[in-house]
Amino acid sequence: MHPVAFVAGATGFVGHALVQALCAKGITTVAHVRPDSSKLADWQGRFAAMGAQVDTSTWQLPAMTEALRRQGVTHVFCCIGTTRKRKSQASRPEAETYEAVDFGLTRLLVDAAQEAGNVQRFVYLSSAGTSQGAKGAYLQARWKAEQAVRAGKVPFTIARPSMILGDREEERPLERAGGKLADKALQLIGALGGRHLRDRYRSTDDKTLAAALLRYGLDAAAAGSVVESEHLR
Ligand SMILES: NC(=O)c1ccc[n+]([C@@H]2O[C@H](COP(=O)([O-])OP(=O)(O)OC[C@H]3O[C@@H](n4cnc5c(N)ncnc54)[C@H](OP(=O)(O)O)[C@@H]3O)[C@@H](O)[C@H]2O)c1
Repeated sequence: MHPVAFVAGATGFVGHALVQALCAKGITTVAHVRPDSSKLADWQGRFAAMGAQVDTSTWQLPAMTEALRRQGVTHVFCCIGTTRKRKSQASRPEAETYEAVDFGLTRLLVDAAQEAGNVQRFVYLSSAGTSQGAKGAYLQARWKAEQAVRAGKVPFTIARPSMILGDREEERPLERAGGKLADKALQLIGALGGRHLRDRYRSTDDKTLAAALLRYGLDAAAAGSVVESEHLR
């Protein structure tokens, strides 16, 4: 069966690279853009130029289920998540927490994929360091989202990348500088024998990660697996 991919978070750094990678492979791709996006027209033009279809369904279970069903989606890629900056700029901060977005919207999409009936794989972009006891609201929300993905009936693949550097449109100078510094420290740790730590936590980039998500997402053998950072390069 010809795969039909649906990318949630298509307007993000990784999601956007993933839409590009899927289209380049000739895979029918639906890029989801939230209907209230201030850049909706811009994204519609950019995705059309890549050869992707654009879906603007609201983040509600019936609408998402219908969107996946109508478009015959076989592979869902969930690349959403909020950031501290988004949270501080939100008009409704209670709707922009890690719990509401990273966990809440992921769970909604898992349920939609299950109800739609045709989805064969749910690929979840999580994060390195995610575990049951991990500290902080971000990793806790990621852990809960992973649990929701595992509990769903659709076969899953969870990817846990480390820091994602590359040419991001949105300026994040502190993140970039911190990532480069961490890479230097990890290089040293690797040279001193800590190769596992270095390989787990050194940075990757959007295109490399997108290629890995596509590769694992379409690989039947990767169903039910959690792919750690060192295998996402
Ligand atoms: N960046 C890293 O270094 C890194 C490292 C490890 C794991 N990750 C994980 O990977 C995910 C994707 O990373 P990224 O760098 O591509 O993130 P990003 O550029 O910030 O993109 C986030 C995506 O989520 C969507 N989103 C955010 N809040 C939303 C909301 N309330 N409702 C609907 N959609 C919403 C955004 O849509 P809009 O454009 O419409 O806002 C965008 O498409 C992150 O969430 C993160 O947890 C990231």
